Amino acid sequence: MVNPETGTLFLHPDRNLAMELVRATEAAAIRAVPFIGKGDKLGADGAAVDAMRKFLGTVDFDGVVVIGEGEKDKAPMLFNGEHVGTGHGPACDIAVDPIDGTSLTAAGRQNAISMIAVADRGTMLDASSVFYMQKIVAGAEGHGVLDIRQSIGDNIREFAKAKGKAVGEIVVAVLDRPRHEGLIEDIRATGAGTRLMLDGDVAGGINAALYGTRIDMCVGIGGSPEGVATACAIKALGGFIQTILEPKTDEERAKGLAAGLKFDHVYDADSLVTSDNTFFVATGVTDGGLVKGVKRLGPIIRTESIVLRSHSGTIRRVNADHLAAKWLD
Ligand code: FBP
Repeated sequence: MVNPETGTLFLHPDRNLAMELVRATEAAAIRAVPFIGKGDKLGADGAAVDAMRKFLGTVDFDGVVVIGEGEKDKAPMLFNGEHVGTGHGPACDIAVDPIDGTSLTAAGRQNAISMIAVADRGTMLDASSVFYMQKIVAGAEGHGVLDIRQSIGDNIREFAKAKGKAVGEIVVAVLDRPRHEGLIEDIRATGAGTRLMLDGDVAGGINAALYGTRIDMCVGIGGSPEGVATACAIKALGGFIQTILEPKTDEERAKGLAAGLKFDHVYDADSLVTSDNTFFVATGVTDGGLVKGVKRLGPIIRTESIVLRSHSGTIRRVNADHLAAKWLD
């Protein structure tokens, strides 16, 4: 509808599914709390999965889990193909990671989140047969500048120019893994700094794309499911993502080929998620750069979440206080 006074389009207010889904990530994060620092990865994941599944069951949508996390370490999971939601409402693909950072949670370390990404049905790349992908994620300045096939040095130098920063001011987030030794050296050789992450490259990628954070870019090899979920968030942020699948074995490669996946192929935001109607929600389990973790304040449990929606381009921070008495088993 056109506004007769300004000639511009009114945006019809419509439903933001993510505002309902945030209850599921809040619940997963709250249920993971007793496991923080207790060394029990599977216990933490199991509690978060159960809570997320229950709350998803109350939301009016017809979701099919395209990406359930956990296969790679045999964690409890919301299974690929599982139907979630009431079955009424929009038909959607859903990617879930009840805890991205189960090891962080079990160790009592920072940066664990609970997350859900949603897009129109049939639009998320099902990359579940190949566990890892190479990724480069950044904010809007990355468009037309960054290229995953280019050397990291060239990417950093070009990106610094595009951001109007000195190379020495650029901070690149990378998972701290032996496989990234050379990459980390190459980043530092440019004069840029690294932010080494123990786990959790979804939060790393989103932090790179958000304005006003200390991270400019997130690179390296991480989980494919996490890459597709990150793409849903990046679409809502107008940011930049490119990925290349990294099969580790011939068996994985064969499975990937059978599933129609392409190797030596650059998957960008639009090929990771073809829909422009994406939602992304994350709640902090432990404190992190993206969201704060669950906090107990006497009778209150406080949660912090981020809620993104591509259709409206909104980034919401949702703080909630939950009466702890309601969460007693
Ligand atoms: P989970 O906690 O969900 O297992 O994933 C943590 C994580 O760090 C992801 O954020 C990342 O994409 C992936 O694992 C990296 O895999 P790996 O730990 O095998 O390097």
